[in-house]
Amino acid sequence: MTKLINLKQNQKKIPIIDLVCHYRSIQNEIEKVTFDVLSSGHYILGKNVEAFEEELSKYLGCKNVVSCANGTDAIVLALKALDIKPGDEIITVSHSFFATSEAIALVGGIPVFADIREDDFNIDPEKIEALITKKTKAIIPVHLYGQPCEISSVIEIAKKYGLYVIEDCAQSIGAKFNGKNVGTFGDISTLSFFPTKNLGACGDGGAVITNDYKLATKIKQLRIHGSSKRYVHDYIGMNSRLDELQAAILRIKLPYLDKWNHERYKAAKYYDELFKDVKQVTTPIVKSNSQHVFHQYTIRLNQRDFLCEKLREKNIETIIYYPVPIHLQSVFSYLGRQKGSLPVTEKICNEILSLPIYPEITKDIQEYIVENIKSILAVGP
Ligand SMILES: Cc1ncc(COP(=O)(O)O)c(C=O)c1O
Repeated sequence: MTKLINLKQNQKKIPIIDLVCHYRSIQNEIEKVTFDVLSSGHYILGKNVEAFEEELSKYLGCKNVVSCANGTDAIVLALKALDIKPGDEIITVSHSFFATSEAIALVGGIPVFADIREDDFNIDPEKIEALITKKTKAIIPVHLYGQPCEISSVIEIAKKYGLYVIEDCAQSIGAKFNGKNVGTFGDISTLSFFPTKNLGACGDGGAVITNDYKLATKIKQLRIHGSSKRYVHDYIGMNSRLDELQAAILRIKLPYLDKWNHERYKAAKYYDELFKDVKQVTTPIVKSNSQHVFHQYTIRLNQRDFLCEKLREKNIETIIYYPVPIHLQSVFSYLGRQKGSLPVTEKICNEILSLPIYPEITKDIQEYIVENIKSILAVGP
């Protein structure tokens, strides 16, 4: 109870992520490189972008990283590089951020949704084969919340049917499956450096990862209007480039990524401990073959909406990622997927709630959050 009172006095709101606190932890380093870039007069694609791509490819253990403007463009670039054409079917999940399917639609592709597993919230490999048709060209699994999906089973199916795999790693940089970084299994993988991501810029940013040199070269052209040299255009491309400021900031942050991911992991384990005796709450699993990087700490419970509302009244921010599955978004009604067609996805959407988690979160804050959850659930709706 003392903790409840102390925190109430000192802190007006518990945010889902504290980006100011995160910035302060490396403020001097960021300000120095920001000043250097501003004084250089060179702002779009340059030595920081090149160096960041090199450093990130070393970190991930892959041959090529091509940066771009954001994680949505990264998926579009990947699909364009693989020559995905209007009418091609791409198998993916409905339980993801909208951008995964939006990118497919942006190139004229048709998102075909596989249901997810109830334990890890990710694509259920057992649901994929039944969806494959002559038009299927690729699978886009998402490693949601920082938890690797069963990527080796996805790759096996893709190989059997001659399909491409694009891993959407926007939420999972640094996560490992069987000891190997996610993003290094598929033909192409994509990252987002949106500020709240585990490796976040101070603006938008994204990257495409591939071991295939030819694909990497094509993506490098696609991101700059399809051109190989100035004013010579081989493809209809995009204007999707990372700027020097973001690249310089990401270079400062990258060496801290493993430490920050570990701090997220420790915070997740502490939540697990605090929730040990709370029967109404199911905590996220960590699979024995995976290293989870806890982009989100997402619990499940029946009284989700009641809890969410009561926590909001107490100034504790929680978020539902995502309340409306993509197949039920009105803009995708043309796909003809009805309510009830993805039972696990739809069930999960009504039960999930993501709690504050970030490297600098303190045990006091976590205790405060869980004490509040316990007292709200003890009274009930
Ligand atoms: C799973 C997933 N895919 C794609 C994206 C798109 O990334 P961006 O916001 O950088 O365009 C996001 C970003 O939130 C995401 O979470």
